[in-house]
Amino acid sequence: MGRVIAIANQKGGVGKTTTAINLSACLAEKGQKVLAVDMDPQGNMTSGLGLDKESVDKTVYDLIIGNADVDEVLQKDALENLDILPTSIDLSAAEIELIGVEEKEYIVRDAIKDIRDNYDYIIIDCPPSLSMLTINAMTTADTVLVPIQCEYYALEGLSQLIHTVELVKERLNPQLEIEGVVFTMYDARTNLSLQVVENVKDNLQQTIYKTIIPRNIRLAEAPSYGMPISQYDSRSAGSESYMKLADEVMNK
Ligand SMILES: Nc1ncnc2c1ncn2[C@@H]1O[C@H](COP(=O)(O)OP(=O)(O)OP(=O)(O)O)[C@@H](O)[C@H]1O
Ligand SMILES: [Mg+2]
Repeated sequence: MGRVIAIANQKGGVGKTTTAINLSACLAEKGQKVLAVDMDPQGNMTSGLGLDKESVDKTVYDLIIGNADVDEVLQKDALENLDILPTSIDLSAAEIELIGVEEKEYIVRDAIKDIRDNYDYIIIDCPPSLSMLTINAMTTADTVLVPIQCEYYALEGLSQLIHTVELVKERLNPQLEIEGVVFTMYDARTNLSLQVVENVKDNLQQTIYKTIIPRNIRLAEAPSYGMPISQYDSRSAGSESYMKLADEVMNK
């Protein structure tokens, strides 16, 4: 059975989507069958993997409001070994649509249950909030992977996130575990990055991935070409690091 990993941190701009896109693509490149699920209304995972979010017909929003089956939403072979459940800005209305709906915490889990076993990995990109969309991702997931940006306030909000995972585990999804944290945007030229890594290591009981993602301009450029880093510049430091992260995830 496939492993479902939600990439979550309610803090904005920490590298969730960059990690979701490139971990998905690197796993696919290593021959794993991957489903990328975009649960963020911003739709950056969708466009970063090469789909035009304005022109996709059915999206995760249609799935959530019961307007489409998963087969209608699924975009097959966006890349070799990689399918996508895409999103558009419509999804921002989902929270409201879900008011009063029964079992609304499990809508996404139930919607994808028939295709779940077709994949080795399902990678879910979460929005920067602890909203019903994030809760849906966490009830669907086996584990939560938390990107942490190497900056001064890195630990802020992390205890809230860990508490949320614990609550979901206790009340909604007993299987849920924290996969671990991965440091992103590491800048070797500054002492700050190093201090943040040391500080988090001292203060966090969670698994910390050995692979550290460097700050790398090619990673920031790739989405505007609709390509994961492994296609855009496979020899960049960013590509090498996400390939290593994929190895670590697979060996866990
Ligand atoms: N390792 C990196 N090196 C350079 N730029 C990066 C790196 N990781 C992410 N970025 C850039 O930083 C910005 C934020 O990254 P990203 O969109 O992945 O964060 P996010 O956590 O998904 O944000 P949001 O909370 O808005 O969803 C983007 O412009 C992205 O291109
Ligand atoms: Mg994002």
